[in-house]
Amino acid sequence: MITGKTALVGIVGDPVEHSLSPPMHNAAFQHLKLDYVYVPFHVPAKNLENAIKGAKDMGIKGLNITIPHKTAVIRYLDEVDQAAQLIGAVNTLKFTEDKIKGYNTDGVGAVKAIEEIITVKDKKVVIMGAGGAARAVAFQLILNGIQKLSIANRTPEKAEQLARDIKSKLEFSSRVVNFSELELTSTDILINTTPVGMHPHEDQKPLVTSEMMHPELVVNDIIYNPLRTGFLKEAEDSGAKTVNGTKMLVYQGVEAFRIWTGVNPPVEVFTEALMETLGK
Ligand code: ATR
Repeated sequence: MITGKTALVGIVGDPVEHSLSPPMHNAAFQHLKLDYVYVPFHVPAKNLENAIKGAKDMGIKGLNITIPHKTAVIRYLDEVDQAAQLIGAVNTLKFTEDKIKGYNTDGVGAVKAIEEIITVKDKKVVIMGAGGAARAVAFQLILNGIQKLSIANRTPEKAEQLARDIKSKLEFSSRVVNFSELELTSTDILINTTPVGMHPHEDQKPLVTSEMMHPELVVNDIIYNPLRTGFLKEAEDSGAKTVNGTKMLVYQGVEAFRIWTGVNPPVEVFTEALMETLGK
């Protein structure tokens, strides 16, 4: 029941009505009997500053920030944690006393998803794509100690740009490769951050097929609709272990929940709520 003591958290985005976060967080609050409620806020760009300042003044405890505000929101924050600074995007705010602090839990979410199967430290990783999601995943993987990173992107210049940015901020050298010259024999982890194969384009040909994969490989697609993308089917055919896109979604939420409440919520409760919302 919502009472005078209930704490408020939520998500700010435009659009926001399709967000899968409210059911996950609310299920965990109920499960743990924490007196919190999580609600969506539809905020267009022109209202972002007022919304963030108003949220602070209203005593809101925390917010998730989604498209298209993840970078624009940074200018309204008092403090930004290391990973979010490197990535240049924030998806979680915590409001305390007189301060707004920003975090990025997308990269952490991806790493935790993969670490259900394999530790990322010292591993050789290939990331497909060089957009916002690839950035978050790449920086977090490097912070977690991977040994080698190759970036394959349709537009090589964008991959070069990401590699340069990583080099200048972390002194870490990545390799930029063409899809045509991808060689995965010694790769441990392969991650798709592109929308290839996402609903309603399930039939799009995967960027990498089973002949190039091997059973020791861990393959992650950050697409969660469909749950089994063409890319993940190729991975299964090769005997590789797969991590679907719901995992990153779950763990980025779990991490935000922990930042706000100080409590580690049960991953199964998040997962169950997500699957129910997705109709699975
Ligand atoms: P996100 O924030 O989800 O990462 P994004 O920043 O738009 O989204 O990045 C999308 C990534 O998917 C880009 O790397 C894009 O490649 P380009 O840099 O060449 O645009 C990649 N991508 C999108 N559609 C693709 C397709 N049909 N084939 C290959 N790569 C594609």
